[in-house]
This record gives sequence, structure tokens and C-alpha cells, in this order.
Amino acid sequence: MEKDVLILGIESSCDETAASVVKNGRTVMSNVISSQIDIHTLYGGVVPEIASRKHVERINQVIEQALKDAGVTLDEIDAVSVTYGPGLVGALLVGVGAAKAIAYAAGKPLVGVHHIEGHIAANYLEHSDLEPPFLCLVVSGGHTHLVRVLEYGRFEIIGYTHDDAAGEAFDKVARAIGLGYPGGPKIDKLAKEGNPHAIEFPRAKIDGCEYDFSFSGVKSAVLNYLNGCEMKGIEVNRADVAASFQQAVVDVLVGRAVGAAQKLGEKRIAVAGGVASNSALRAAMKQACDEAGLGLCYPSQIYCTDNAAMIASQGYYEYMAGTRHGLDLNAVPNLKIGQR
Ligand code: KG4
Ligand code: ZN
Repeated sequence: MEKDVLILGIESSCDETAASVVKNGRTVMSNVISSQIDIHTLYGGVVPEIASRKHVERINQVIEQALKDAGVTLDEIDAVSVTYGPGLVGALLVGVGAAKAIAYAAGKPLVGVHHIEGHIAANYLEHSDLEPPFLCLVVSGGHTHLVRVLEYGRFEIIGYTHDDAAGEAFDKVARAIGLGYPGGPKIDKLAKEGNPHAIEFPRAKIDGCEYDFSFSGVKSAVLNYLNGCEMKGIEVNRADVAASFQQAVVDVLVGRAVGAAQKLGEKRIAVAGGVASNSALRAAMKQACDEAGLGLCYPSQIYCTDNAAMIASQGYYEYMAGTRHGLDLNAVPNLKIGQR
């Protein structure tokens, strides 16, 4: 029997300080997440300087807890994997610094991981039969991509957003209707009480780029609608606005992803990133994939938003493929998918 490979994953690209131990890229042995949401909520969004400081305060404790929960010592770990981009530079540096220190002190290989490739890998944690090739719809706070996952470490981006990311649009619309940060889960909840067809918000298409996205138009349409109501003295039904906005975004995401899978002959779609936990998106994807005869998977909510188990999973595949980073590894805030 082959020896198990244990990867320690570290994630600090935004406002979650996280560490995890994952076995053979698939089995989560521990998953510790220290969220800063309460602090950033006070400011209506993530404040980079505060995020970095909180990561510094928490990272050692979070890593120790992840090893303890997994019941392993650093000696038993095969490699340390860490998110080195994209993200907030000061936040990334904390995780990268901690990972380098551990790799050096314990004499372990260091493997830098792309945050979005990690989000995609979150799907491996609970779907043991999922293997490339498949199509992945990545929908997070900072990214909206349609990615063909050709191999574990080989990606082809076939669509991307020309302006706002899907999660960003959720957060901005939530703020406009007074729901606060982070907006996605709050819109999801409020939309359940509203009519998704009450207001017709635009579903943007981009000429010549059939798999690309644009969400600034729908966001502006919501803001215009709210302004119009205010000027006319009409009371806004916030649940209807939330539901109609969400429906417009979901229609576009589902249409592009399913259309691309059909055209490209992909058999299965995985959804990844924070917005993958949206209940309307999950329901609409399920219906459309069932109708089109496509397989569908997405991670549990806890693995949709930022976590380190997904970094350890992708780190495992990188490690097995021979990727090793030196102690000169730096944070790369605008790191591109597939860049090594
Ligand atoms: O992947 P993630 O944790 O961080 C990034 O890498 O960006 O995604 C965070 C984003 C936020 O914009 C948040 O509002 C959104 O995911 N989100 C949701 C839901 N839960 C989180 N958006 C819509 N519906 C949800 N249930
Ligand atoms: Zn993320």
C-alpha cells in the first residue's frame, strides 16, 4: 500500500485566516477558519490593513489548531501549501511568510497555490469521483470565470467578467438596499421572500464573447431603479429587488455555463467560489444540468467560501506533479490562473 500524503494548507488572501490538513488531496483531517467578518462589517467591506493585522495575530494559533485537530505533528506533514495569489498583498504575505518559516524550520517542501485553483479543488474534497476534465464555473467575490479543467494543474479560461465579479455585484447591491456586508448570503436569504420576476433587470451579453460576463449593468440597473423609486416617492419592496437581481445574475451564470458545456462536449460542471453557495444558483444549475443531461457538483457551503482545505487539496496535486517553491516565494496579488 502506498504511503498517505499529508498536506498542510494555509490561506490568508482576504479576510479569513485558515489552515487545514488534507490526506491524499481528498480527505479533510482538519479545517480551521478564523473569520474576520465581524470586524469588516463595521466598515461595510474588507479593510486591507486591518485584514493583514488580524492575520498576523491569528495565523500561528490557527495553524497549531489545524495540526492538533488532525492529530498530527509537523514531522508527519509531507509538504506545506499556501495561497500566494491573487488577493490582498498584505494579507497574502502573512500566510506566505508563515508557510516559508514552517517549511524552513521543519525542512518540508513548500508549494505555492493559486487561490482560484484552490476554489476549483474544493470540489475534490467531497466528490471522490470528480476528476479532470470538467468545466468549472468559478464565482467568488473577486472572480467570475468559466474554466476548463484539463488536468489537475492545467486550466483553460474560456470566459471571464469584463467588469464586476458576481460576488462583488451581490455585495454592492446588498449595500444599496441596506443589507450590509457580506451581501451575498443576505440577498440569498431576503430573496426567498420576494418575487424573482417582479422587476426585469438586464441580462448582459457581450458581442463576440459568448462565454464572457458583465455584471456592472445589472448592478447599475438596480441602483437606477432604487433612485427612481426614491424620486417618485414609491416604497421599495426590498425582497422583490433582491429576488429579481439574483434571478438576473443566476440566469446569466447558468446559461453561459450550460451552453459552454454543451458546445464543448463537457460532461460535468463543477461550481466553485463563495457564490456557489447561493441557493437559487444551485437550484437553477441543477434543473438546467438535469435537462441537458450534464453532471453537476459543488462544494458544501463551508468549502465554497475561503478555506485552507481547498488549498491543501490543490497543493497535493501540485506536490505530486513536482511543483516546489523556494524560500524566495513572494505574494503575487494579480497571479493568473495556470501561471507557475
Ligand atoms: O470565494 P469567496 O469566499 O472570496 C473570494 O475569493 O472572493 O467569496 C466571497 C463572495 C462574497 O462576494 C459573498 O457575498 C459571496 O461570495 N457569497 C454569496 C453567498 N455566500 C457568499 N453570494 C451569493 N449568495 C450566497 N449565498
Ligand atoms: Zn476566495
